[in-house]
Amino acid sequence: MANYSLFTLFLFLISFISTAWTTSKHELNDDPLIRQVVSSVGVNDDMSLSKFEHQFSEFKKTYNKVYDTEEENEYRFGVFMSNLLRAQRHQKLDPSAKHGITKFSDLTPTEFHDQFLMSEKLQRPNLPNTILNAPILSTNDLAIQIDWRNRGAVTRVKNQGSCKASWAFSVAGMLEAVHYQSSYQLVDLSAQQILDCDSTCFPPNTNCDAGCDGGYTYNALNYLSTAGGIMAEFDYPFTGTSSNVCQFNKDKVVSSISKIFYISNNEDQIAAYVAKRNPVIVFVNSQYLQSYKGGVYCPSQCVQSGPLGALVVGYDADRNWTLKNSWGTNWGESGFFRLCKGALTCTDQVDPVALTVAAD
Ligand SMILES: *[C@@H]1O[C@H](CO)[C@@H](O)[C@H](O)[C@H]1NC(C)=O
Repeated sequence: MANYSLFTLFLFLISFISTAWTTSKHELNDDPLIRQVVSSVGVNDDMSLSKFEHQFSEFKKTYNKVYDTEEENEYRFGVFMSNLLRAQRHQKLDPSAKHGITKFSDLTPTEFHDQFLMSEKLQRPNLPNTILNAPILSTNDLAIQIDWRNRGAVTRVKNQGSCKASWAFSVAGMLEAVHYQSSYQLVDLSAQQILDCDSTCFPPNTNCDAGCDGGYTYNALNYLSTAGGIMAEFDYPFTGTSSNVCQFNKDKVVSSISKIFYISNNEDQIAAYVAKRNPVIVFVNSQYLQSYKGGVYCPSQCVQSGPLGALVVGYDADRNWTLKNSWGTNWGESGFFRLCKGALTCTDQVDPVALTVAAD
């Protein structure tokens, strides 16, 4: 990497563009940033390639990134540079958060989307009749702020790795808090059980749960209530892949589900359930999360860009939300992120499929 001339870089970027163009027209249409890199490097020598190189090598050190070939390394360097410019753009559009280099900075937006987010077709279906509409709670007596982490009801942040398991981890996370409230024991619950054992579809033959390829929280909750409950992570640990071999053992169930509710698509009701019942599962707009480093994420538009299942663990005095993710502790705010008031239910498309469980 040491001796790139600008000319080489320029050629490299051109070839990067043409490769990108042939492999993914869609991605390039999304993304004029690679062209911006070309022109900014072209006009301003000091817009220092060496600065980019330095940042890239720091990035590789920080996140233990190793690429198999020099070719791959060069390709990732190009992706990294365009992500830096993209992060700058996100910073302008989303000033209350901090955007920059993250562990995802060597992935194209399409790769990030494919590896970490749900497919766009996620939509709230008609409710399976085992799922009830949650009763409306009064909202005029809510705590000013809530943080279930301070109450000891939130387990450590998990790292899904290359398994799209956020839906299963958010279900486990909600049940961990429910279990804590009834037992005062904080036990990590098994997302792996859901990944291996649950292939529920709703409606029939559509929206099927598919392990590390993704799934739906309402299906997972239905599965758990039919199966008889969820085991401890300790007894059925996360492996990073899903298999079709279900090792569920009903004798080792830690927590079972009696009722599943949909909370209405309304932030006051979500706040009331978080304050008075337990953390709840939502799907959020993940538009800028690839470059998110901390602060209050406040996407200016509601777009349907790969919803992400996460667990609302609290809100602050301004009703910004705190959410638990499953991308490891080396992302966001030690694995958590904050979302501004209003952004949780910003669209009908990315529906906050918020559910809760009654610990009867
Ligand atoms: C809530 O988020 C806004 C940005 O949307 C921020 O200005 C404000 O300080 C946040 N509130 C708290 C209590 O952190």
